[in-house]
Amino acid sequence: MKLLFVALGMCVFAYSACVWGRMELHAGPRFNVIDYGAMGNGETDDSQAFMKAWKDACNASNGTPTLLIPKEKSFMLQPLFFSGPCKPSILHIKLKGTIIAPKNIKDWKLGKGTRKAWIRFKRINGLVIRGGGQIDGQGAPWWNAYFNSEINRPTALHFSECNNLFLSGLTHINSPKNHISINRCNGSFISKLHFIAPDESPNTDGIDISYSSNILIKNSKMETGDDCIAINHGSTFISVIGVYCGPGHGISIGSLGKNGAHHTVEEIYVRNCTFNRTTNGARIKTWIGGKGYARKITFKDIILVEAKNPIIIDQQYNPYDSAEAVRVSDVSYDNVRGTSSSPHAIKLHCDKNLGCTNIVLKGINITTIAGKKTYASCKNIKGVCSFCNPHVPCLSHS
Ligand SMILES: *[C@@H]1O[C@H](CO)[C@@H](O)[C@H](O)[C@H]1NC(C)=O
Ligand SMILES: *[C@@H]1O[C@H](CO)[C@@H](O)[C@H](O)[C@H]1NC(C)=O
Ligand SMILES: *[C@@H]1O[C@H](CO)[C@@H](O)[C@H](O)[C@H]1NC(C)=O
Ligand SMILES: *[C@@H]1O[C@H](CO)[C@@H](O)[C@H](O)[C@H]1NC(C)=O
Ligand SMILES: *[C@@H]1O[C@H](CO)[C@@H](O)[C@H](O)[C@H]1NC(C)=O
Repeated sequence: MKLLFVALGMCVFAYSACVWGRMELHAGPRFNVIDYGAMGNGETDDSQAFMKAWKDACNASNGTPTLLIPKEKSFMLQPLFFSGPCKPSILHIKLKGTIIAPKNIKDWKLGKGTRKAWIRFKRINGLVIRGGGQIDGQGAPWWNAYFNSEINRPTALHFSECNNLFLSGLTHINSPKNHISINRCNGSFISKLHFIAPDESPNTDGIDISYSSNILIKNSKMETGDDCIAINHGSTFISVIGVYCGPGHGISIGSLGKNGAHHTVEEIYVRNCTFNRTTNGARIKTWIGGKGYARKITFKDIILVEAKNPIIIDQQYNPYDSAEAVRVSDVSYDNVRGTSSSPHAIKLHCDKNLGCTNIVLKGINITTIAGKKTYASCKNIKGVCSFCNPHVPCLSHS
């Protein structure tokens, strides 16, 4: 419960009350991209207009500036790099229309700072993006190219080195790779986002988080080809509440410890989430040979609809043998119910040297789609279970 208070406390005080209050009180200048020459016809390159409007918003000195992207228009943008710091303590982007990436790979002008992302924000504090609009990454040609050969594909939206990021009410479709990356940010409130990409689109994760803390993701719907949310190395105090996931690969901690890296993740709280036809549900994955830990992780009030690997800890993500492993401990699954598309509903496979400790399962009830019994397998885990269907053999039962 501690985490919930930290996250919500931060959000209530830092955002709902404070940000909105201040925005209404000191609503500042508006910078409409149309006034800077943007066409919004979905074809013309509107990048320069956006860049000019951004410069003015970033340099505004009276009140909270709003960069306005008007509705019923579609703005084609080349990769853009918005770099801070900016003068205002809060900068509001009101995205009411659509922003759309170039249609063909050959038309993308990936330049300095944008090799890995289409729209990149760095060192912008108090960035607020909302407005009901849509972000279309035009991923299809990139996926097809990737199926033919390994290529570097850009993330649609990339945020790094930020404090107090607020994202709400946007639709993200068809990113070439993952839709949102959050890296080295502290304090984010993310709500009411909708991610849509085909089931078979490669690596189109919803949100990937690394080296970040105090992040709350709420009431969002993720229908993508890969992880709905991936919580990676260096993340602490991440809450995910009321997220609907599927199709997709579920909510994943890791993978951690690739190539012997020292990775840590702790204080993760996932609550009231639904996994519908996902290939995994609540997953923790680590590579053999890694170092560090994943601990203090809670999955609570989870609904499963035909999920394939509903509860999975996989420490054998890599076939090589090693004396090292990422230490997994203090993980709880509380009230996880529904159906699994495979009878093998629970896999808790931990490293043979370290094992996983203090794994707590409570109120688990997973049946097959036909309502038949499922089963659990486990290796090298210690912990307790109170009411587990299926029965988990390695745990003590209370
Ligand atoms: C920012 O505004 C100041 C004056 O308020 C001006 O001198 C400066 O050139 C502006 N910078 C940019 C990048 O527009
Ligand atoms: C994140 O922000 C909180 C609240 O402002 C602060 O207490 C904490 O030290 C910050 N953490 C990091 C890693 O900057
Ligand atoms: C659970 O999440 C759903 C969205 O998936 C939301 O509509 C509902 O209000 C949430 N319930 C609680 C008790 O938080
Ligand atoms: C699960 O997904 C299927 C197919 O998209 C849909 O028909 C069904 O309503 C979903 N179930 C729930 C509980 O959301
Ligand atoms: C477990 O789930 C099955 C199928 O939904 C249901 O029939 C059964 O009553 C549940 N058991 C408990 C103890 O909740």
